[in-house]
Amino acid sequence: MTALFTEFSLKDVTLRNRIAVPPMCQYSADDGHTNDWHLAHYTQLARGGAGLVIVEATAVSPEGRITPGCTGIWNDAQAEGMAKIASAIKKAGACAGIQIAHAGRKASANRPWEGDDHLADSDPQSWQTIAPSAVAFGANLPKVPQAMTLEDIERVKADFVAAAKRAKKAGFEWLELHFAHGYLAQSFFSVHSNQRDDQYGGDLAGRSRFLLETLQAVREVWPENLPLTARFGVIEYDGRDEETLSESIHLTQQFKQSGLDMLSVSMGFSTPDANIPWGPALLAPIAERVRLEADIPVASAWGIDEPNTVNQVITDQQMDLVMVGRAHLANPHWPYHAAKILKFDDPAWVLPAPYAHWLSRYHAPDS
Ligand SMILES: Cc1cc2nc3c(=O)[nH]c(=O)nc-3n(C[C@H](O)[C@H](O)[C@H](O)COP(=O)(O)O)c2cc1C
Repeated sequence: MTALFTEFSLKDVTLRNRIAVPPMCQYSADDGHTNDWHLAHYTQLARGGAGLVIVEATAVSPEGRITPGCTGIWNDAQAEGMAKIASAIKKAGACAGIQIAHAGRKASANRPWEGDDHLADSDPQSWQTIAPSAVAFGANLPKVPQAMTLEDIERVKADFVAAAKRAKKAGFEWLELHFAHGYLAQSFFSVHSNQRDDQYGGDLAGRSRFLLETLQAVREVWPENLPLTARFGVIEYDGRDEETLSESIHLTQQFKQSGLDMLSVSMGFSTPDANIPWGPALLAPIAERVRLEADIPVASAWGIDEPNTVNQVITDQQMDLVMVGRAHLANPHWPYHAAKILKFDDPAWVLPAPYAHWLSRYHAPDS
């Protein structure tokens, strides 16, 4: 049996294979509302055969969007649009997941293809950003955020809870908290961005508090029988990697005790000065370490899209799911491509019948 095409169960959800489409912002929403673009995009990805499709970072409040084009789930009308997407993903045989997020000091930015930098303060579309401390990210994101008050912290946690409830009502069965990539939660954890001297800063316990409390509050409203996961940057590549990694593993153990079902292992992106050793499957050994030391199922991404490599990381139990991102943008039928390369069974049947019948080795004229 090809490891990549074995089922994977977490809580009451069983995925048809180990391929997940990670959250990928489309920057194409209108005031946080999804539209035809999103419906077609996610339907097509689910029809491609992945076991899990996670809808892009979806903001828990207007100020939590990265750009004005980001999706939101801070009101019921937005959730109704999301319900259509969740239903389409499920009809295509995949599990419908969603990532809920707050962009913190990286918010109020231009779309990547329109500059990928902060909107000018004079731009009517820009807004005040918030973060643990009034420290800018720097480089292309120089805007200085407002340091959050304790009331702000309570409000954002409540926004995550309300977003989780809406996601459930919209029909999603897999919820991912965005605790990565230098956005709000990651910036509470990171020494690059958190200079607070109250209970939400300082030592590891202080820098972990916002993440743990948010997780615990969401776990209370997200059904116990459905997977609750977090994407978390466990390494920054900033020269203090072992320290960050062991702190991250310690926090992941606490996440697990607080009801987290899986960690999506990623990078911190908390400083523009990181020196990331880009290369194929660079996070695979790190994901494996988190899996073993925190004793929790893991998923990971970043340059793991060559089918034999993807299959190998599953065979070697370095991770439980592989997130294949950009390769799905290039080819939404990537699982079919992988099945052919791996000589899996009758690969066409990774796709739905209206495609598979004609591509099957029993019917295709040139096979
Ligand atoms: C267009 C685009 C949008 C992305 N948006 C998100 C996002 O919403 N949330 C997130 O956690 N990561 C996001 N990422 C990162 C991807 O989930 C993934 O980790 C990254 O593309 C690396 O995997 P890959 O090498 O398979 O593409 C995005 C990446 C791309 C290319």
